[in-house]
Amino acid sequence: MSSRSQDKLNHVANSIVGNVKAIAANILDENSVDALFEQVGSFDHLVVTAVADENSLRSSLADMDTETARRGMEKFWGTFFAARAAVKNIAQDGSITLTSSVSIFKPSKTGGVSVMSAASGAVAVFGRTLAAELAPIRVNVIAPGVVETGVWSNQSNSERSDLLEWAEKSLRVEHIGQAEELAQAILSLITNSYITGVVLPVDGGLSIT
Ligand SMILES: NC(=O)c1ccc[n+]([C@@H]2O[C@H](COP(=O)([O-])OP(=O)(O)OC[C@H]3O[C@@H](n4cnc5c(N)ncnc54)[C@H](OP(=O)(O)O)[C@@H]3O)[C@@H](O)[C@H]2O)c1
Repeated sequence: MSSRSQDKLNHVANSIVGNVKAIAANILDENSVDALFEQVGSFDHLVVTAVADENSLRSSLADMDTETARRGMEKFWGTFFAARAAVKNIAQDGSITLTSSVSIFKPSKTGGVSVMSAASGAVAVFGRTLAAELAPIRVNVIAPGVVETGVWSNQSNSERSDLLEWAEKSLRVEHIGQAEELAQAILSLITNSYITGVVLPVDGGLSIT
């Protein structure tokens, strides 16, 4: 497992049964990513879920400064750094799973997320192209809908209850997504040796509402 904060990693590692190695790295720093994968050595499956600073990067197009727009594309660059470093040591029967967003299927007109959606689009196309380029290594992409994770942690109580109510009323599955539901989808992409090159919406039906 890896993310920037060793403390957070240690906390999670202590809650997982099994042999867990937790190494801090910054996915937006290519040297840090390269050093991480040098330490890891040979391995089977890569899952990239960092980064998400989505709510602080929201901006309507007219008000979007270039710095915010560049930061909105960071998700692509982090994904690129991780995939490039990983490919040197990943097993030929292994897999890479990347994270895009449902926004590539259902654009949001109000959210100020145009550039972040473009980054998620880039991740999806990058993943499908890598599936062809890196075969027999399998490469897949998940496209989450609205999932209750740290990305929503700065919400006020009323914003949170509005979001939960919206999910209950609007989504086909009548609830907001949970991290475990995303993890199950990722696990099936990792373990099913016949799936490669897919972009899988895991969105409670948001893309068909
Ligand atoms: N949650 C949703 O509703 C939703 C919807 C659509 C798409 N997504 C996508 O799903 C993915 C995961 O989002 P999430 O909701 O799980 O976000 P999150 O709860 O904010 O978690 C982000 C994770 O990335 C790590 N991280 C952030 N910056 C990093 C960096 N520079 N280097 C290494 N690790 C970093 C964080 O740990 P540290 O702080 O320790 O670094 C944290 O573990 C993102 O690609 C996001 O765009 C999420």
